[in-house]
Amino acid sequence: MPLRLIANWKLNGSLEFNDQWAENFFKNFSNSNLKSIGIAPASLYIDHIRKVIGDSGIEIGVQNICDVESGARTGEISATMIKDLGCKFSLIGHSERRIFFNESNQTISKKLILANNNSVMPILCIGESAEENERNDTHDVLKFQIDEALKDLFEASSLIIAYEPVWAIGSGKIPNPEEINSVHKMIKDVVQSRFPKIDLKSVLYGGSVSSENASSLFAQEHIDGALIGGASLDGKEFAQIANVFNELK
Ligand code: PGA
Repeated sequence: MPLRLIANWKLNGSLEFNDQWAENFFKNFSNSNLKSIGIAPASLYIDHIRKVIGDSGIEIGVQNICDVESGARTGEISATMIKDLGCKFSLIGHSERRIFFNESNQTISKKLILANNNSVMPILCIGESAEENERNDTHDVLKFQIDEALKDLFEASSLIIAYEPVWAIGSGKIPNPEEINSVHKMIKDVVQSRFPKIDLKSVLYGGSVSSENASSLFAQEHIDGALIGGASLDGKEFAQIANVFNELK
């Protein structure tokens, strides 16, 4: 099964953390389906993570790429570079990038194109704020984010979308699973009808996913997997979520 459960480690980790994480993960993971799992560590640790997970089949990706290919962008990392390191995917447009780094839909669109050109699977993150949710604007906000991000993408591009309500990230709050399911269905319909040449592989949910709520989420037809922040930092907890996923999907 292709990528369905992605650990987003954000600005966390160390050499010791990586070793400990792998030990805890492999001790508690009770399946052989590792191909559906991806880890997005801080890019500096890509090689070390690869050593500690060995040839288990877990994919390694990054949390961000630059919107230009090379040149005067001090501190950035390009899609070509991560491809060079064997990374298979990149998160693009995570809400923390949109909020703390002022990433616009236009920048996100450029990043998607570069990821695709380099055969790096883009994980496009979209989601509404708490205020937008309270105003019942969720569907409109998501449609706008999808349109703006995808309008310049080439034909036959592959894509994963992660629906992450901004108010659910790191807060312990999640929308009810039926609501998420209907949002995911809407996302699939919108991409299929407006961008029929884009191959949408799956729609993941992200925002306070844990081993406690995993079964209620994965029981839903259109929740194809998850993008997991806080709970992915504990190898045991992440393995437990993956075990639930493998029972239900
Ligand atoms: P969380 O983060 O699981 O800690 O809510 C998810 C994310 O930001 O991708």
